[in-house]
Amino acid sequence: MSDDRIISGSETNDDGVLDVALRPKKMDEYIGQNNVKANLKIAIEAAKKRGEPIEHVLLYGAPGLGKTTLAHILANELGANIKITSGPAIEKSGDLAAILTNLSEGDILFIDEIHRLNKVVEEILYPAMEDYALDIIIGKGPSARTLRINLPRITIIGATTKMSLLSAPLRDRFGMVFHLNFYEQADIEKIINRNAKILKIDIVQDAAQEIAKRSRRTPRVANRLLKRVRDYCDVKDDGAIKINTCQSAFAMLEVDELGLDWVDRKILETIIEKYDGGPVGLNTISAATGEDMATVEDVYEPYLMQLGFLDRSPRGRIATDNAYKHLGRERRGGQNKLV
Ligand code: ADE
Repeated sequence: MSDDRIISGSETNDDGVLDVALRPKKMDEYIGQNNVKANLKIAIEAAKKRGEPIEHVLLYGAPGLGKTTLAHILANELGANIKITSGPAIEKSGDLAAILTNLSEGDILFIDEIHRLNKVVEEILYPAMEDYALDIIIGKGPSARTLRINLPRITIIGATTKMSLLSAPLRDRFGMVFHLNFYEQADIEKIINRNAKILKIDIVQDAAQEIAKRSRRTPRVANRLLKRVRDYCDVKDDGAIKINTCQSAFAMLEVDELGLDWVDRKILETIIEKYDGGPVGLNTISAATGEDMATVEDVYEPYLMQLGFLDRSPRGRIATDNAYKHLGRERRGGQNKLV
């Protein structure tokens, strides 16, 4: 699994300190996702006015788009405590019961990768969300009884990259559901400039644009590229990010002008060169690139599809004419198999 690659939207060990330092604290500092922000602002104001916790919020979208950041901003704006956990971290129902009973009125529980909660744990969450209650089963068999414990009124913020894997009963318990989109390039540029300022990096406008172009419309990728380019400019030059050093840095990092790295290119080259443009099964691509199937499917393919370089068909993956063009290849027979 190569989720530590520089253009991955997934979080890596390297991101931690930087992400926290750069994370906007207020809704007005958060760039992009205007519709989501507008809706959340109303919800915050209304909850404050009524002196109630806000409804449960579900955020979904690709990795690195700022779901966790939004959860922190919500907590900050509401003056609430936030506890962070994730679907795979809560193994047993007792784990979730312990977390829930330790929360106070108005607190926020952020559950990342909520689609990975197991069924038994998920069922503990239903009454907690609906009735602010914890149902504990005492005993076994015919004599088993349910004991209901009241919980403080809390807000659950769930985040998922895979809405389709969320069960309908869980989805229905969220009062607000928001989809985070990939960012406009102009917004990514603003994020890069904002973060360069915080990190006291001198950057020319052309260079900010170059980094933005390669950031896969994802703030986490933009921040990571900014950091790598800064390292390069510190070592090779005086630390200021200029257009020439910026371009040399990307040549060394093997990230092209659309943000594709060598693995993305290898996927497309495999389909084009070995299989005449496809269709090719996911397992074949996985074997050819040495990446596991889930990584190819969840991390690499979404962006290639976004660019219109790859299509998924029932018979497998197909490279589009745009992919041929980007790699400078001619399609044999000159015809797109899709048409
Ligand atoms: N850092 C990461 N995401 C951001 C965003 N949407 N706005 C500002 N800074 C960010």
